[in-house]
Amino acid sequence: MNDLFDSLPDLRPVREQIAEGAVLLRGLARDGEADLIAALRDVVACAPFRHMQTPGGHRMSVAMTNCGAVGWVTDRSGYRYAATDPDSGQPWPAMPAPLRDLALRAAVQAGFPGFDPDACLINRYRPGAKMALHQDKDEQDFGAPIVSVSLGLPATFLFGGMARSDKPLRLALTHGDVVAWGGPARLAYHGVAPLKDGTHPLLGPQRINLTFRKAR
Ligand code: SIN
Ligand code: FE2
Repeated sequence: MNDLFDSLPDLRPVREQIAEGAVLLRGLARDGEADLIAALRDVVACAPFRHMQTPGGHRMSVAMTNCGAVGWVTDRSGYRYAATDPDSGQPWPAMPAPLRDLALRAAVQAGFPGFDPDACLINRYRPGAKMALHQDKDEQDFGAPIVSVSLGLPATFLFGGMARSDKPLRLALTHGDVVAWGGPARLAYHGVAPLKDGTHPLLGPQRINLTFRKAR
């Protein structure tokens, strides 16, 4: 089965509007993936992945770290952006040029020129990890989009509407895909279905997601 599909050309469009204000750019991050992954390894060496706690006291199944001027954190006192890594007390690593360049390129292609992200949340999903439907709303200003890059194992991305109860689209995201949402979609509910088992040739048994935001 797989061999048959592997031999077929990928006829899916490169740029797909998935909702008003939301665009999927397939494979955009494959260009320069070696530099991207090397830069990510440097970030993770300074600020290792950790499982944060929700305000309700649950350990998140996704492990996280950040780079940029500020990083998204959660603990018993709530969700927020912080300039320092709570584990080390040090500033988060700077946002490496290959990450920032990709975010800007994606934003332009998605119709959001002038994006100036100051935060990049790095999510690591091992098989079974998931992210419940949520809105990204801890940023000061919703004028800037969210740019989300998928690397490694494939995942089912859930992209809903403005209400948690809106039935989400289920999008198959693979290595290198980028989704950007802003404007009328900026506060769309989104999440990730439990990651299936597998091993990616470059990243092994995991999916890495980079979420670029303008937090302040
Ligand atoms: C997120 O919403 O922070 C992560 C989304 C994803 O992993 O695709
Ligand atoms: Fe999110």
